[in-house]
Amino acid sequence: MNDIPARPKRRTGGRLRPLLGGACATLVAASSVVLVNVAHADTTRAAATTLKAAAELSGRYFGAAMGQDRLSDSGFLTIANREFDMMTAVNEMKPDATEPTSGHFTFSAGDAIYNWAVQHGMRVRGHTLAWHGQQPAFWRNLSGSALRSAMIEHINGVMAHYKGKLAYWDVVNEAFAEDGSRRQSNLQATGNDWIEAAFRTARAADPSVKLCYNDYNIENWNYAKTQGVYNMIKDFKARGVPVDCVGFQTHFTGGSSLPSTFQQTLSNFGALGVDVALTEVDVTNAATNQYQGLTQACVNVPRCVGITTWGIRDSDSWRGSENPLLFDRNSNPKPAYAAVLGALNAAPTTEPPTTPPTTPPTTPPTTPPTTAPTTPPPTGQPGGCTATFRMANGWPGGFQGEVTVTNSGSAAVSGWTARLTLAGGQTLGSLWNGNSTGTSGAVSVRNADYNGSLAANASTTFGFTVTGSSNTAPSDVSCTSS
Ligand code: XIL
Repeated sequence: MNDIPARPKRRTGGRLRPLLGGACATLVAASSVVLVNVAHADTTRAAATTLKAAAELSGRYFGAAMGQDRLSDSGFLTIANREFDMMTAVNEMKPDATEPTSGHFTFSAGDAIYNWAVQHGMRVRGHTLAWHGQQPAFWRNLSGSALRSAMIEHINGVMAHYKGKLAYWDVVNEAFAEDGSRRQSNLQATGNDWIEAAFRTARAADPSVKLCYNDYNIENWNYAKTQGVYNMIKDFKARGVPVDCVGFQTHFTGGSSLPSTFQQTLSNFGALGVDVALTEVDVTNAATNQYQGLTQACVNVPRCVGITTWGIRDSDSWRGSENPLLFDRNSNPKPAYAAVLGALNAAPTTEPPTTPPTTPPTTPPTTPPTTAPTTPPPTGQPGGCTATFRMANGWPGGFQGEVTVTNSGSAAVSGWTARLTLAGGQTLGSLWNGNSTGTSGAVSVRNADYNGSLAANASTTFGFTVTGSSNTAPSDVSCTSS
């Protein structure tokens, strides 16, 4: 079981401290009362012994970030493979890395991370497309409509390369100032609508990936910056701007520790109709009570889909001198690891409902005709469905697949089950936008809560990774509806 949360810890000083790398200017001074809202474990369920297995018990992921240099670090890779099922590139998918000069895209470093991750059964978060930091030099020489166009071309170029492959994209990163107004950046100077322009471009470029806004110092509900971002997401949802998720970086330092309101913040954002996630977690000295509390805040909120730590061992961290991660320099789990594992295992069993990355219509549905239709309704089969497989990416030891389920009947269906048979030696890894039964041989996939209803001719997709000795496509792909 979990440790009992420690007494509320008081902040000892009001000094704001700068973060490394210049990406974040300062962190907010926030109260640091530990969350006491402990979820109750399902006692019929065996406790999982890795972070990813424990997260998966409640339908969540547990992720890490890595740089390309870690691909030759066997200590890192061993833990990553054992404990994590989601990966983020620390720097390799940022604008300066992917488009160093105008129109010349370079994906080798990002691809190396992507390939290793999916070949080990993980999904990948894309980070990030539009940001004031780590911009290509040529953006710095542009302004106005030329910079806006450069941003849009960048989003189109990078998203085309990763189309159909990523679970999430941080479309816009860190666009707010501490007082809740927009950050004064060169992108902001192109016009206040730059963020929605980025999201609309992103949706058109790849409708399969969830589109996130990501920021730091938005964990405390009673903080101006949190309110600023919340109001933007609320406005976007009301106006049909395509945003699917909000990432809370969760960099907790001496000046900004776990706020007592974190769960409330996640819950309030989730109520706007977006997924929420903790995307870059690190905590000064890996304070056990803070790690436990931030994990509980997530697992207590159905729309919180997962947690990512910004590195694995303290030696991987951009804040290395603060030892802020779950594993020490010798790859040993620290006390905070056990606290996180316990909180994940204690999560309520209900899977977090998520919505597919589709944009609600911006215009209200048209009024139905008042006169009776003159032709009789079609008489075809009321509830047929078809399933077609597409290999999104394959490699010698596995693949990432996508199945499109189409209602081929003449009436709406309220649910579907797709079936497919994996080749011998293959094992199902992650699966999204559906619920699977079986991990080898004959596998069936039932619709998720949000994508079971299909109008006649409508389609939806689910995706998955498979590891094994071959990248043979599945056979016997079929579908039944209900
Ligand atoms: C950091 C990287 O970890 C560093 O290697 C780099 O020098 C600066 O950026 N918020 C973000 C991340 O969204 O992209 C930042 O990553 C950390 C703060």
